[in-house]
Amino acid sequence: MEIAVIGTGNIGRTLGEALAAAGHDIRYGSRTPEKSVREALDGAEAVIVGIPGQAVEDFARDHADELTGKVVIDAANKFGDGPAHSAAEFAVLAPGARYARAFNALGWENFADPVFDGVVADLFYSADETDRETVERLIRDVGLNPVYLGPGQHDLLDALLKLWFALAHGQGRGRHLAFKVL
Ligand SMILES: NC(=O)c1ccc[n+]([C@@H]2O[C@H](COP(=O)([O-])OP(=O)(O)OC[C@H]3O[C@@H](n4cnc5c(N)ncnc54)[C@H](OP(=O)(O)O)[C@@H]3O)[C@@H](O)[C@H]2O)c1
Repeated sequence: MEIAVIGTGNIGRTLGEALAAAGHDIRYGSRTPEKSVREALDGAEAVIVGIPGQAVEDFARDHADELTGKVVIDAANKFGDGPAHSAAEFAVLAPGARYARAFNALGWENFADPVFDGVVADLFYSADETDRETVERLIRDVGLNPVYLGPGQHDLLDALLKLWFALAHGQGRGRHLAFKVL
Protein backbone atom coordinates (compact mmCIF):
# COMPACT_ATOMS: atom_id res chain seq x y z
CA MET A 1 0.00 0.00 0.00
CA GLU A 2 0.99 3.62 -0.43
CA ILE A 3 1.11 5.05 3.07
CA ALA A 4 1.78 8.60 4.23
CA VAL A 5 3.50 8.73 7.61
CA ILE A 6 3.23 12.24 9.05
CA GLY A 7 5.96 12.80 11.61
CA THR A 8 9.48 11.44 11.44
CA GLY A 9 10.20 11.09 15.15
CA ASN A 10 10.09 8.03 17.38
CA ILE A 11 6.67 6.83 16.36
CA GLY A 12 6.63 7.86 12.70
CA ARG A 13 10.07 6.47 11.97
CA THR A 14 9.45 3.22 13.83
CA LEU A 15 6.11 2.52 12.15
CA GLY A 16 7.39 3.67 8.76
CA GLU A 17 10.43 1.41 8.89
CA ALA A 18 8.40 -1.62 9.96
CA LEU A 19 5.83 -1.04 7.20
CA ALA A 20 8.54 -0.44 4.59
CA ALA A 21 10.16 -3.72 5.63
CA ALA A 22 6.78 -5.39 5.06
CA GLY A 23 6.77 -4.06 1.48
CA HIS A 24 4.68 -0.90 1.73
CA ASP A 25 5.53 2.31 -0.09
CA ILE A 26 6.13 4.86 2.67
CA ARG A 27 6.16 8.64 2.12
CA TYR A 28 7.13 10.70 5.13
CA GLY A 29 5.83 14.16 5.85
CA SER A 30 7.07 16.62 8.45
CA ARG A 31 7.80 20.32 8.66
CA THR A 32 11.10 20.03 6.80
CA PRO A 33 10.85 21.26 3.20
CA GLU A 34 12.20 18.00 1.78
CA LYS A 35 9.48 15.99 3.50
CA SER A 36 6.43 17.98 2.47
CA VAL A 37 3.23 16.81 4.12
CA ARG A 38 1.26 17.65 1.00
CA GLU A 39 3.50 15.51 -1.22
CA ALA A 40 3.37 12.65 1.28
CA LEU A 41 -0.44 12.72 1.25
CA ASP A 42 -0.72 12.91 -2.52
CA GLY A 43 -1.92 9.52 -3.75
CA ALA A 44 -1.59 7.80 -0.37
CA GLU A 45 -4.23 5.18 0.45
CA ALA A 46 -3.75 5.42 4.20
CA VAL A 47 -2.27 8.05 6.50
CA ILE A 48 -0.58 7.53 9.86
CA VAL A 49 -0.50 10.62 12.08
CA GLY A 50 2.59 10.64 14.31
CA ILE A 51 3.04 14.31 15.19
CA PRO A 52 2.64 16.03 18.57
CA GLY A 53 -1.00 15.89 19.65
CA GLN A 54 -1.31 19.66 19.89
CA ALA A 55 -0.35 19.96 16.19
CA VAL A 56 -3.07 17.60 14.96
CA GLU A 57 -5.85 20.18 14.84
CA ASP A 58 -3.87 22.36 12.43
CA PHE A 59 -2.90 19.27 10.42
CA ALA A 60 -6.57 18.31 10.00
CA ARG A 61 -7.56 21.86 9.08
CA ASP A 62 -4.68 22.47 6.67
CA HIS A 63 -4.98 19.14 4.83
CA ALA A 64 -8.72 18.46 4.87
CA ASP A 65 -8.92 18.24 1.09
CA GLU A 66 -6.01 15.81 0.73
CA LEU A 67 -7.35 13.65 3.57
CA THR A 68 -10.78 13.22 2.01
CA GLY A 69 -11.53 9.57 1.29
CA LYS A 70 -8.42 8.31 3.07
CA VAL A 71 -8.16 6.15 6.17
CA VAL A 72 -6.41 8.34 8.75
CA ILE A 73 -4.88 6.33 11.58
CA ASP A 74 -4.29 8.72 14.44
CA ALA A 75 -1.42 7.62 16.70
CA ALA A 76 -0.96 11.07 18.25
CA ASN A 77 -1.83 11.91 21.83
CA LYS A 78 -2.78 15.27 23.26
CA PHE A 79 -1.69 15.58 26.86
CA GLY A 80 -3.52 17.76 29.36
CA ASP A 81 -7.24 18.23 29.92
CA GLY A 82 -9.64 16.57 27.52
CA PRO A 83 -9.22 13.60 25.23
CA ALA A 84 -5.83 12.41 23.97
CA HIS A 85 -7.41 11.57 20.62
CA SER A 86 -8.48 14.08 17.97
CA ALA A 87 -11.64 12.43 16.64
CA ALA A 88 -13.71 15.57 17.18
CA GLU A 89 -11.18 17.78 15.40
CA PHE A 90 -11.16 15.52 12.34
CA ALA A 91 -14.97 15.26 12.34
CA VAL A 92 -15.31 19.04 12.21
CA LEU A 93 -12.24 20.12 10.24
CA ALA A 94 -11.66 17.18 7.88
CA PRO A 95 -15.03 15.42 7.68
CA GLY A 96 -14.02 13.51 4.54
CA ALA A 97 -11.24 11.68 6.39
CA ARG A 98 -12.06 8.17 7.66
CA TYR A 99 -10.78 8.44 11.24
CA ALA A 100 -9.25 5.43 12.95
CA ARG A 101 -7.21 5.14 16.11
CA ALA A 102 -4.27 2.77 16.59
CA PHE A 103 -0.62 2.74 17.70
CA ASN A 104 -1.41 5.35 20.38
CA ALA A 105 -1.34 3.33 23.59
CA LEU A 106 2.05 1.60 23.63
CA GLY A 107 5.52 3.13 23.75
CA TRP A 108 7.26 3.16 20.37
CA GLU A 109 9.85 0.61 21.53
CA ASN A 110 7.14 -2.02 21.49
CA PHE A 111 6.40 -1.36 17.81
CA ALA A 112 10.10 -1.85 17.08
CA ASP A 113 10.14 -5.06 19.12
CA PRO A 114 6.60 -6.46 19.59
CA VAL A 115 7.44 -10.06 20.52
CA PHE A 116 7.76 -10.95 24.22
CA ASP A 117 9.34 -14.36 24.92
CA GLY A 118 7.85 -15.64 21.66
CA VAL A 119 4.41 -14.07 22.31
CA VAL A 120 3.19 -11.43 19.87
CA ALA A 121 1.75 -8.36 21.61
CA ASP A 122 -1.86 -7.37 20.95
CA LEU A 123 -2.77 -3.96 19.63
CA PHE A 124 -6.21 -2.57 20.39
CA TYR A 125 -7.65 -0.27 17.77
CA SER A 126 -10.83 1.47 16.69
CA ALA A 127 -12.09 2.07 13.15
CA ASP A 128 -15.21 1.92 11.06
CA GLU A 129 -16.10 -1.62 9.99
CA THR A 130 -15.27 -0.72 6.39
CA ASP A 131 -11.69 0.13 7.37
CA ARG A 132 -11.02 -2.88 9.58
CA GLU A 133 -9.22 -4.83 6.89
CA THR A 134 -6.85 -1.98 6.08
CA VAL A 135 -6.02 -1.11 9.69
CA GLU A 136 -5.59 -4.77 10.69
CA ARG A 137 -3.25 -5.34 7.78
CA LEU A 138 -1.06 -2.44 8.86
CA ILE A 139 -1.03 -3.55 12.51
CA ARG A 140 -0.05 -7.08 11.46
CA ASP A 141 2.62 -5.73 9.15
CA VAL A 142 4.15 -3.77 12.03
CA GLY A 143 4.26 -7.13 13.79
CA LEU A 144 1.41 -7.02 16.31
CA ASN A 145 -1.87 -8.85 16.64
CA PRO A 146 -4.87 -6.54 16.05
CA VAL A 147 -7.78 -6.53 18.52
CA TYR A 148 -10.82 -4.64 17.26
CA LEU A 149 -12.72 -2.55 19.79
CA GLY A 150 -15.39 -1.36 17.33
CA PRO A 151 -16.02 2.03 15.76
CA GLY A 152 -15.69 5.21 17.81
CA GLN A 153 -13.91 3.61 20.77
CA HIS A 154 -11.45 6.47 21.10
CA ASP A 155 -12.05 7.16 24.79
CA LEU A 156 -11.43 3.50 25.57
CA LEU A 157 -8.10 3.72 23.77
CA ASP A 158 -7.29 6.86 25.77
CA ALA A 159 -7.94 4.82 28.93
CA LEU A 160 -5.56 2.16 27.68
CA LEU A 161 -2.91 4.83 27.14
CA LYS A 162 -3.32 5.89 30.78
CA LEU A 163 -3.04 2.27 31.89
CA TRP A 164 0.16 1.81 29.87
CA PHE A 165 1.70 4.93 31.44
CA ALA A 166 0.61 3.88 34.93
CA LEU A 167 2.28 0.48 34.54
CA ALA A 168 5.35 1.51 32.55
CA HIS A 169 6.21 4.75 34.34
CA GLY A 170 3.99 5.04 37.44
CA GLN A 171 4.87 1.56 38.69
CA GLY A 172 8.33 1.63 37.16
CA ARG A 173 7.87 -1.57 35.16
CA GLY A 174 9.67 0.01 32.21
CA ARG A 175 8.64 0.83 28.66
CA HIS A 176 9.10 -2.65 27.23
CA LEU A 177 5.50 -3.39 28.12
CA ALA A 178 2.46 -4.37 26.05
CA PHE A 179 -0.95 -6.05 26.41
CA LYS A 180 -2.33 -9.48 25.56
CA VAL A 181 -5.90 -10.80 25.67
CA LEU A 182 -5.91 -14.35 27.03
N1 LIG B 1 6.95 8.14 21.60
C1 LIG B 1 6.08 7.14 21.82
O1 LIG B 1 6.40 6.13 22.45
C2 LIG B 1 4.68 7.26 21.29
C3 LIG B 1 3.83 6.15 21.32
C4 LIG B 1 2.53 6.25 20.83
C5 LIG B 1 2.07 7.47 20.33
N2 LIG B 1 2.91 8.54 20.34
C6 LIG B 1 2.42 9.83 19.84
O2 LIG B 1 3.03 10.03 18.57
C7 LIG B 1 3.26 11.43 18.37
C8 LIG B 1 4.73 11.65 18.03
O3 LIG B 1 5.52 11.20 19.12
P1 LIG B 1 7.09 11.00 18.92
O4 LIG B 1 7.59 10.42 20.18
O5 LIG B 1 7.34 10.31 17.64
O6 LIG B 1 7.54 12.53 18.84
P2 LIG B 1 8.89 13.10 18.22
O7 LIG B 1 9.95 12.06 18.27
O8 LIG B 1 9.10 14.41 18.90
O9 LIG B 1 8.51 13.35 16.68
C9 LIG B 1 7.51 14.27 16.31
C10 LIG B 1 7.56 14.42 14.81
O10 LIG B 1 6.50 15.27 14.40
C11 LIG B 1 7.02 16.25 13.48
N3 LIG B 1 6.17 17.41 13.59
C12 LIG B 1 6.01 18.21 14.64
N4 LIG B 1 5.05 19.12 14.40
C13 LIG B 1 4.61 18.88 13.15
C14 LIG B 1 3.65 19.46 12.33
N5 LIG B 1 2.95 20.54 12.72
N6 LIG B 1 3.43 18.93 11.09
C15 LIG B 1 4.13 17.87 10.67
N7 LIG B 1 5.07 17.26 11.41
C16 LIG B 1 5.30 17.77 12.64
C17 LIG B 1 8.45 16.45 13.91
O11 LIG B 1 9.29 16.80 12.83
P3 LIG B 1 9.81 18.28 12.59
O12 LIG B 1 10.04 18.90 13.95
O13 LIG B 1 11.05 18.09 11.78
O14 LIG B 1 8.73 18.89 11.81
C18 LIG B 1 8.84 15.03 14.29
O15 LIG B 1 9.21 14.31 13.13
C19 LIG B 1 2.81 12.14 19.65
O16 LIG B 1 1.51 12.64 19.46
C20 LIG B 1 2.81 11.04 20.68
O17 LIG B 1 1.88 11.24 21.72
C21 LIG B 1 4.21 8.47 20.78
